[in-house]
Formats: sequence, structure tokens, C-alpha cells
Amino acid sequence: MRRKLAAGNWKMNGVAADLAEVKALIAAHPEPGCEVLICPPATLIAQMNWAKGAHPLALGGQDCHVKAAGAHTGDISAPMLVDAGASHVIVGHSERRADHGETNSEVRAKALAAQAAGLVAVICLGETEAERDAGATLAVIGAQLGASVPESATGADTVIAYEPVWAIGTGRTPTPAQIAEVHGFLRAELVARFGPEGAAFRLLYGGSVKPSNAAEIFALPDVDGALVGGASLKAADFGAIIAALAAA
Ligand code: 13P
Repeated sequence: MRRKLAAGNWKMNGVAADLAEVKALIAAHPEPGCEVLICPPATLIAQMNWAKGAHPLALGGQDCHVKAAGAHTGDISAPMLVDAGASHVIVGHSERRADHGETNSEVRAKALAAQAAGLVAVICLGETEAERDAGATLAVIGAQLGASVPESATGADTVIAYEPVWAIGTGRTPTPAQIAEVHGFLRAELVARFGPEGAAFRLLYGGSVKPSNAAEIFALPDVDGALVGGASLKAADFGAIIAALAAA
């Protein structure tokens, strides 16, 4: 059985004052009924780790370097994230692919670095609007999956997040049929490549998930949770999404 996962990606948002949102979230959901992960800016991981106390909330980074240490000014390594209290790290988010030119092979190297440090890698994939309009969605997703996910990945150390680029931060979401098509394709590709282990990878949907559309998305087959941006910043909204996932 795949454990459902509600993941929040705070992106470049959040300062110490916003720990109040996390405190409100965990107070309202002491036993969330699904796995809950927040990936705040790296500056907040340690503080959030102290603030959560004994709550099962998991914490993650939003990126990591491929190396464990060295002369790489401004970068953060997977072992450093572990040291700060993280158990997960997002790699290959479309904003990093776009803003920093990250390639599939770099994303794969980052996933391997995460694995080596004992972190769960949340590997992101997704097509642009132009690629969807060109009918290339599954070809793009298949190529990203093949080249970004290491051969050594398992369902225990790797989560796949499908985030169509055109749905991120836009308020637009794919139709349920479009989400189901991609998630079904991802599952089939994983099983073809990894055998029975392919059924153990959790598949998250991300892109304008909010309280009003969460239940419909979580009812779809092979949707094991969500990677939530904007709506994860507020305890009330993220709490409603967590409750919808727990009830799905
Ligand atoms: P939004 O939920 O703000 O659309 O962001 C999705 C996302 O990119 C999460 O990683």
C-alpha cells in the first residue's frame, strides 16, 4: 500500500514569522491521516524542525547539490539538509529547470545525492503548454522520467511529482481525464522499468491544487497525493487539502 503524501513547496517564501502557520497547521491536525511534508526555504528548515516538536510533519529541502561538500558558493548539499532536520528533498522542479537550466541528467545526479544521504527525493516532471499543444505531453514526460529517475531508485526513496508547467501558479488545472492519463502512463512506465517495485512509487499531482479542487484530484487512480505551492503557505488552505487527502 502506498502511503498518501500531502507535500507543500513554499518556494522562495517564508520568514521566521511564518512559523506561526506551521504551528497552527499542526495544532489543527495532530494526527493528519496521511503523510505531511513541508519544504520551506532552507533558512527555515532547522527552525521548523524545532517548532514542530513531536508532530510527525516531515521537512524537506527544495534542491540539493550533487556533491556532499566543497567549493560551491551558495549551494546546499543533501547531508546539510539532513543535518538541518530534513528527510526529503525536491529535485528537478520546473522552476529550477527553467531558472537554472537544470537538465534531466543533473536532476538524476541530485536524486542520487539525495539517496546517498538518506533523503527521499521528490523528482518533478511536467510538460510546458507548447508541448501539450503539440501533442507531445507523454513523450516529454516519458523522456524526463527515463532520464531523471536513477536506476537504483525505489518506492521507499523516490516520489514522482507530475507538475504541468502551465498549471503552476496560474490557477489553471488539467481536467481529471488529463491528470489520470499522465498518472496512468507514469505508473505503466515505472512498472515496465522497475517491475513490481514500480507499483510502490508514490505519484503526486502538482499545479494550482487548492481546497476547492483537491477532493476531485485525489479521487483519481494513481494519484497518491499532491505537491502544493501557493496553497501550502496558509494553514487553513493546506489543512483543508490534507483533510481531503486523508478522506480520499
Ligand atoms: P502552485 O500550487 O502554486 O500552482 O505551485 C505548484 C508547484 O509548483 C509546487 O511545486
